[in-house]
Amino acid sequence: MSARDLFFAASAAMKNAYAPYSRFPVGAAVRTEAGTIHAGCNIENASYPEGWCAETTALGHLVMAGGGRVTEIAVVAEKMPKIMPCGGCRQRLAEFATEDAVLHLCDTNGVLETVPFSAVFPRGFSFEDGK
Ligand code: THU
Repeated sequence: MSARDLFFAASAAMKNAYAPYSRFPVGAAVRTEAGTIHAGCNIENASYPEGWCAETTALGHLVMAGGGRVTEIAVVAEKMPKIMPCGGCRQRLAEFATEDAVLHLCDTNGVLETVPFSAVFPRGFSFEDGK
């Protein structure tokens, strides 16, 4: 399946970013095995550490829509081509990602590169022994 629709979902979500402090809007979108798409933006706070990332909002939407396993992730930031999910979001994404999930690195025009999610988050914390 083309990643274009996932990119568009992430881009549209970025337009909703609430980022008055960093002025660094981010959008993220995940696709499930079932084919559903869930997107999110970053949401900041005057108490800076209390804000959270676009990927985390997208996962909140995934869970509220009934959950599922994530096969594809797209992230876009207008000020940073090929933005990478932060460490905390990699751990959160890993909770729902399939073993062969992919991460699409984007600029504002589309997907620039697609990498295996396992390559950017190897050996993350898991209750499954030895993973
Ligand atoms: N941010 C995200 O939303 N996703 C990332 O992958 C990295 C950073 C947000 C957090 C904060 O609102 C702003 O970008 C600057 O760090």
